[in-house]
Amino acid sequence: MKTETVPTIYDRRRQSPTSATLCRGRKTLATESAVELLRKGEVVAVPTETVYGLAADALNPIAVAKIFEAKERPRFDPLIVHLPNEQWLERVATIDNSSRPLIKKLIARFWPGPLTFILGRQPIVPDIVTAGLDTIAVRMSSHSVFTEIISAFGKPLAAPSANRFGRISPTTAQHAFDELSGRIPLIIDAGPTTHGIESSIITVHDNEIDILRRGPITAEQLGEFGKINIVGAAKSLSAPGQLPSHYAPRTPLRLIDKAESFRPVKNHRVGLLAWNAKARKGDFQIAQRRSEDRCSLRFAVVKYLSEHQDLREAAANLFGCLRELDELDLDLIVAERVPARGLGAAILDRLQRASHSFDIRDRRG
Ligand code: TXA
Ligand code: MG
Repeated sequence: MKTETVPTIYDRRRQSPTSATLCRGRKTLATESAVELLRKGEVVAVPTETVYGLAADALNPIAVAKIFEAKERPRFDPLIVHLPNEQWLERVATIDNSSRPLIKKLIARFWPGPLTFILGRQPIVPDIVTAGLDTIAVRMSSHSVFTEIISAFGKPLAAPSANRFGRISPTTAQHAFDELSGRIPLIIDAGPTTHGIESSIITVHDNEIDILRRGPITAEQLGEFGKINIVGAAKSLSAPGQLPSHYAPRTPLRLIDKAESFRPVKNHRVGLLAWNAKARKGDFQIAQRRSEDRCSLRFAVVKYLSEHQDLREAAANLFGCLRELDELDLDLIVAERVPARGLGAAILDRLQRASHSFDIRDRRG
């Protein structure tokens, strides 16, 4: 049985998540508990195929306000609305005729799944969801547990990633617990998420696709449907939450081309987030053995994004590795660039943002 089909429940009385010994009965109980809370206007952390989300009734402004409170998210940053089914699409969104054929094709190919569209907004959607914009972000998740919950709830759910604002998105229930414990009543655990990075966000006009946030659906995949424009996040005023400093660990992070060329400052403990794992492991050990001066040991710890240089695996591991490195009290994390093709572009995008605050500090000295 796949882990995503066997959710368990955490509640705020527990100190840490219990490991799951699960059965179908629990699954129903998890869904029932989630739906009951959502109907009462509460928030619930739920798994999706990308990252864990913090969900609330998208049509209830007070419930949605609780998302902003729990995450400490600024009200100017709009939320993604998740649909129970396609019939809801044009109840919450408007689609202009010129882009309709392409949108329909993309939906047919990629929904349910990790592709978010920015469309016109219908008046039933409360202002707080879209931060007052006249556009709305919509997607349909393919995760079986999410689908079970939203189908039982029967209405759209607003759900940003279940982390405090500006922090790394959670890819396990434990991450969501670490971020939001004590602030929310329930977390549904269905194991690690499949993609590990947030959905791709696009807008469509005529036969062109603007990518506002790179994600699991790659530019190459979308390119089969129309001309692609990569709209740099920092330049995109229409994606206010795409701040350059998003996804930041607390430890400064620097992006480098190759670990070999990195020279640490004396006495600094540096962690490496490595891409070229297999070829390197031995080299580091040899370098360390030869060294008589402990300070010349380049890395206090090395984490490998993917032993087999598989970009999917790297994406799935990315946020978990960053969290683990962040907990080690390092002076610096250095991350090797991954290839900029396919999913690699989405991984690089996250790493660039994670390194942003370091760049600022660096420049200021
Ligand atoms: O995979 C995902 O998309 C996850 C899961 C939980 O579904 N959700 C997620 O939501 O990543 P969040 O809130 O962390 O990121 C949503 C991004 C934000 O950068 C926000 O600014 C942007 O979408 N966004 C939302 N509504 C928008 C709109 N109307 N126009 C432009 N950008 C919008
Ligand atoms: Mg987020």
